[in-house]
Amino acid sequence: VLHADDLVSRLREKPVIGREIKVFKETTSTNDVVGRLARDGVPEGAVVFSESQTKGRGRLGRCWVSAPGKGLWFSVLLRPDMLPSEVTRLTIMVGAALVAGIQRETHLPVDIKWPNDICFEGRKIAGILTELNAELDHVNYVVLGIGINVNMVASDFPPELKHSATSLFLETGHFVPRADLATTILREIDVRYRQLNSNDFDQVADEWQHHCSTIGKEISVRMGDQMIQGRAESLDSDGALLLRGEHGQLERIIGGDVTLRASG
Ligand code: BTN
Repeated sequence: VLHADDLVSRLREKPVIGREIKVFKETTSTNDVVGRLARDGVPEGAVVFSESQTKGRGRLGRCWVSAPGKGLWFSVLLRPDMLPSEVTRLTIMVGAALVAGIQRETHLPVDIKWPNDICFEGRKIAGILTELNAELDHVNYVVLGIGINVNMVASDFPPELKHSATSLFLETGHFVPRADLATTILREIDVRYRQLNSNDFDQVADEWQHHCSTIGKEISVRMGDQMIQGRAESLDSDGALLLRGEHGQLERIIGGDVTLRASG
């Protein structure tokens, strides 16, 4: 079981991320709870965990299955001084932090599928849902929702996810202590958020690209009704994906669903 006091006491002195931590037994979605804290004026760095979620959500309006007590379902409040168009950098930062934290605690060589999936051998272990409240030229706050399948066994996944999702337990064969993983990941996010704030996004982006399984591949990206195909070349300075289209043109992709194409 996760305890807020225990998690706070494990973090090093004065982190931004995790300066305040709450743990709920059940909630609709930790992103909802953090959104309310944000509107109440709580400072950035607050983190909310829940042992279970009744309305956990993923990107593109999908549901997120949150097995009680077996994963890490949490959200982080940030108030970054950046433009709405730069917020993808935060998803990139969390992706890099998740890979570092998971590798540190489990030694599992996980990778990143752009923009927000942490996978092992093509199956999803964790996801990030970035929600923002912004004016046209100013971000009020960002809620970074993070879901990690930690100790789930095969029967914890609904049949439709059996082939696409997995857990750290299933892949390592070991039970993973959630409090250790949670604090390691919060520390990894804290380090990278400091880097971002000292204008060092490039270093975070390099680390991310190093672990990204999408870069260099032939992919299809579905954005609503539109489908774009090409080769994923790199990230730009805002964290968008640069895709070399079939006619040589460079497309800038800020969201969507990526599938790998068989390349000849
Ligand atoms: C995705 O891969 O589509 C993103 C999944 C994000 C899930 C987490 S679990 C904690 C937080 N609360 C939610 O409702 N969603 C995020």
